[in-house]
Amino acid sequence: MRQSINHLRKKMRDQEKIVCLTCYDAGFARIIDRLGIDVILVGDSLGMVVQGHESTLMVTIEQMVYHTRCVARVSQSAFIIADMPFASYNHPQQALETAVNLIQGGAHMVKLEGGTHLEAVIQYLAKAGIPVCAHLGLLPQSIYKIGAYRVQGKNPLDAKQIREDALCLEQAGADILILECVPRTLATEITETLKIPVIGIGAGMDCDGQILVLYDILGITTPMPKFAYNFLQDHNSIEQAIQQYAYAVKTKRFPSLEYSFE
Ligand code: KIV
Repeated sequence: MRQSINHLRKKMRDQEKIVCLTCYDAGFARIIDRLGIDVILVGDSLGMVVQGHESTLMVTIEQMVYHTRCVARVSQSAFIIADMPFASYNHPQQALETAVNLIQGGAHMVKLEGGTHLEAVIQYLAKAGIPVCAHLGLLPQSIYKIGAYRVQGKNPLDAKQIREDALCLEQAGADILILECVPRTLATEITETLKIPVIGIGAGMDCDGQILVLYDILGITTPMPKFAYNFLQDHNSIEQAIQQYAYAVKTKRFPSLEYSFE
């Protein structure tokens, strides 16, 4: 049966971890789906891991729709989130057009990066019946503004901003929040405060679920981010590695302190 936002909310209420993984093509989508992963994110990280760019900024709407279609064509059970690419949601009407393209490409939810300045965009999408995943902490689409891929929210002022952003976006109508590369105590606090599921990547083990980039858990990425683990190194097949990732998340073995930030 197809996972829905209701299944994810129920998992959150039952304190069952939500397992998420990025995926960009049909071959991997078939495997991931068969293994019962809850959420597939067709992430714009494809710009880096598939296309070889140094950032996610070159990814276009057409490319996101193409990869979303590849995944959605074969997936039967995962809940599919697709990234709105860089500069494709600068104002509500533009965001709606991008989101419609992705939803018609097979996504069940769209994801966008940023804080309170997205309030009107999220409200507009929510009113149009489009589920939204917000993304706070490290924002890869702002890499030229941030200067480096590093932990966010370490000082009290930045942490306060992320807390305020999270509350604002939830109130605006966001259905899920992804927190990337923030201290685990901040992620715990936000997870306890929000009513929507909070999914972490480099955000400690207390989030309602975890997401990693598929190419990271298969050890393809070099260098490997500190918060990721190559699950293929201990196993003989891609299936086993993905299964082990899911098991480690569900049993709260991953991410341990070694793969989290203080
Ligand atoms: O694009 C992506 O893969 C992402 C995850 C890192 C959360 O946004």
